[in-house]
Formats: sequence, C-alpha cells, structure tokens
Amino acid sequence: MESVIGEMFDRTLAYSHQASEVKKMLRHYFDKAEIKNKVILDAGCRVGEYSQALVEMGARKIIGIDLSSRCIQVAKKRLKGKSKKMKFYQGDITNLKMFPDRFFDIVFCLGTINYLNPKGVKKAMKEFARVTKPDGIMLVLFQKNKGLLIQLVSKIATRLSVNVYLFFIDHFSFLFKSFVERMIGRKISYQYLKYDIFFGLRNLNFGIPVKIDKKFRVPTVTCEYCSEKTTASFKINVPKTIITRDND
Ligand SMILES: C[S@@+](CC[C@H](N)C(=O)[O-])C[C@H]1O[C@@H](n2cnc3c(N)ncnc32)[C@H](O)[C@@H]1O
Repeated sequence: MESVIGEMFDRTLAYSHQASEVKKMLRHYFDKAEIKNKVILDAGCRVGEYSQALVEMGARKIIGIDLSSRCIQVAKKRLKGKSKKMKFYQGDITNLKMFPDRFFDIVFCLGTINYLNPKGVKKAMKEFARVTKPDGIMLVLFQKNKGLLIQLVSKIATRLSVNVYLFFIDHFSFLFKSFVERMIGRKISYQYLKYDIFFGLRNLNFGIPVKIDKKFRVPTVTCEYCSEKTTASFKINVPKTIITRDND
C-alpha cells in the first residue's frame, strides 16, 4: 500500500505551493524563536517546499523524508546549492529507524498522516515521539474530514488499479473541472485538480484514528491557496522529562 501512495505522489511534481502561503502557514504554528537554529524533520516533505521555508526562517538543519522517490529527486534537484542545511531521503514515516532517539528539536508533519491507515498513524506517532528531543515540539496536522460523497469516491478510487486510475486522471479530469470549481466556489488549475483533488482522494483515510489529548490542539488554519482546512492540528510540546508508556 505504501509504495502505491509513493507512486501516486510521484505524479504530483508539477504542482507547487506559493512560497508566501507556505511561510504564512508556518508562522501560524510557530514563533520565530521556536524555529531558529533548530533541527527539524519534515515528515512527508514532497518536493521540499516547507523544508525550504523552514531554512529561510532560520532553522539549522532540515531533514525531509517522503515515500515518493521522484518527489525526493525533485527536492534534491530543486534545492541543490541553495543550502547545505537541507537533506532529503526517501523513507516511510512509520519507520524512522535511520534516526536515533531524541534527534530532532521539531517533527513537522503536514498533510501526510491522512494517507496512513489507523495502524500506520499509531506507528508514525510513536516514531515521532521517539525521535523528538525532550523539550522539543511535534506538530501534526490532520486534514478536514470529507463528506460522504467524497468518502464514496475515495473508496472507488482506491479500488481501481493504479494504472487505470492514472489513465482516468490524465484523460478525463477536464470533464470534472467546472463541476469541482462550482463546488468549491473558485477557479482552479488542472494541476491542482489532478494533484490535490484526484490524487488526494486515493488512499485517503478519514478521521483521526489516534486519541490525542485535547489540550494539545492548536487553532487550525485554512490554506488560502487550496482552501483546504485542517480539522485538527496538534502541537505537542514534549516535556523535558518523559515517562514512556508502552501501550498503544
Ligand atoms: C499531500 S502531500 C503533503 C506534502 C507536504 N507536507 C506539503 O504539505 O506540501 C503528502 C505527502 O506525503 C507522502 N507520504 C504519504 N505517506 C507517507 C509515508 N508513509 N511516509 C512518508 N511519506 C508519505 C506522499 O508521498 C506525499 O508527498
């Protein structure tokens, strides 16, 4: 399943976020001082747009990982020579064994956890907790729950073989453009339609399948560019002294 998701996101390379929007999102969640000189994991980094912004905002080192090998290739190519502070690797956020315990000051995970099944979410959250330093920060953003119609379409999309689905997206997206534009109330590009709407529907899981204490919730923000609202954002300030409980 994981490699299928990686393969899907291999196709999203042409889509890009506006740098100003990315920084605005980050400023919503972090104070400058929280980022300055910090070592940060960008978990599910795609082509490294957030990694780049985090470096520009003063981080000391960013490591981006993503399942999609093409996204990682593009991140490396796009940001080559821009800063030695960024490193990108293909990897799975449910298994971060390449990093020792308490390695990162911040683990940042945006728009990625929702492609994991409940077991995967728990694994990823455990890994995030393991690699975050005591006194560090975990920021995990979950996207908005989708309506029943979207859930149904997602179920169908997930059942189709990848090639059939990609063929469908490549050849028939245009048929749905105006319908989708009417639904969300604004004009969109084909790239956005393919990347965010159609790719996003495949293997999308719904809800938040882990219990996180409400006290960790922080106000959500809507991405102005794509109008996607996060349902819940959890910013966990890891205590200096950690008591580990091994239940799930
Ligand atoms: C919607 S994109 C979000 C990318 C980026 N964080 C952003 O907000 O622009 C989701 C990304 O998560 C990656 N992804 C999905 N499951 C993953 C996993 N288990 N491990 C690592 N990356 C994963 C996908 O390949 C994709 O690049």
